[in-house]
Amino acid sequence: MKESADLLIYNIKEIVTPFDSKLKRSRDLKELKIIETGGIAIKDGRVICVSSTDEVLDRFESQNKLDLKNENILLPGFIDPHTHILFGGSREDEFLLKIKGESYLSIQKKGGGIYKTQKDTTSLSEGELIRITKNKILTANSYGILSLEIKSGYGLYIEKEIELLKIIKKLKNEIKSNIVSTFLLHLVPKDIDKKIFLNEVKTVLPKLKNEYLIDFIDIFVEDGAFTKEDAIEILEETQKLGIFVSLHIDQFNNLGALSLALKYNIKSLSHLDLTTDSELEKLKEKDIIGIIFPLERFIFKREENRGRKLIDSGIPLSISTDFNPGTSPSLNFPLIISLSLIREGLTIEEAINCSTINSAYALNLQNEVGSIEVGKRGDFVIFSLKSFKEIPYYFGMNFVKYVIINGEVIKVDW
Ligand code: NIG
Ligand code: FE
Repeated sequence: MKESADLLIYNIKEIVTPFDSKLKRSRDLKELKIIETGGIAIKDGRVICVSSTDEVLDRFESQNKLDLKNENILLPGFIDPHTHILFGGSREDEFLLKIKGESYLSIQKKGGGIYKTQKDTTSLSEGELIRITKNKILTANSYGILSLEIKSGYGLYIEKEIELLKIIKKLKNEIKSNIVSTFLLHLVPKDIDKKIFLNEVKTVLPKLKNEYLIDFIDIFVEDGAFTKEDAIEILEETQKLGIFVSLHIDQFNNLGALSLALKYNIKSLSHLDLTTDSELEKLKEKDIIGIIFPLERFIFKREENRGRKLIDSGIPLSISTDFNPGTSPSLNFPLIISLSLIREGLTIEEAINCSTINSAYALNLQNEVGSIEVGKRGDFVIFSLKSFKEIPYYFGMNFVKYVIINGEVIKVDW
């Protein structure tokens, strides 16, 4: 008697997955497990077998079968651990100014940048914001991103930020993708004293946690945003409440925020563009995930091979879109992978580990997603390609054919 499954996928030219569920650094990042002519059985949205086609067809039966005819490869869905996907409007005029040499922070000082997107976001109704964000998440899915973090951050005023966090909570219920919700302290609203603002944040944090409105908190530690001392005030509170923390640090200026990671319970540090070598040395043995943004780094013409340097420093690295209207306006994940090889010096094996299991750790989803193993969610991306090495090769092109979310097959139409 064969065991019953809800879905069988077989004749998979290559199943490509991180070797196991452990956090990857240094040499472990170079390893992948590849199963040729593989097969997968799924029940109740979970993987119940991952093996050869022969074994899966021998052991299981199902009404639902997907025969990939050895023409497609299959990977765990990509996990994007850092997005600002919840916003209105766009900033193409600033993009053109930046290309001509105007700096990000000078545009912000003139009332553009995040302030512009604040206006564009808060002028939309809740319904409209939900509609456009759902569409963006579907676009993310079509590039293979099946789990993502969503930051608030374009409301600025506490009441507006809470409205955005409530929208993220609704999206969590209405969208198939895994969503992790982050309260981002982006900038202090222009007409509020910073001390008062920080006190308001501290007061509201327990309520946000109790109402399941936040999984993480993030702070933009930067000139014109928050100082290291401001961050400490907030981190003392989050530490008491047991809220996960990720931080934006060392993007345009190094304010010494890396030292915070050694004291507080921080899951991930994003950007690390200007972190010094001696600071990186301190992260070596820590399980703090460093997240870099190959597209943002390309747009800002940063020096090459930073990703290589972070990996060689022993940091468990993750790569992400940082999708936002100001510094990184693309959800094309295969393109991010290409750039991570071309400009950041990663190998394709490293890029895949950095886009899956390490990103799962950054969001505390490592037991759910990030590798293809029995018990994990059936979240996969299937490419019309014959080898995983073709993902970075077809630069800017998208060969995603299906995504499977929680065991449900979704065809990607182009
Ligand atoms: O990660 N720098 C802070 N936050 C975003 C940019 C947000 C924006 O410019 O709208 C980032 O790059
Ligand atoms: Fe960001």
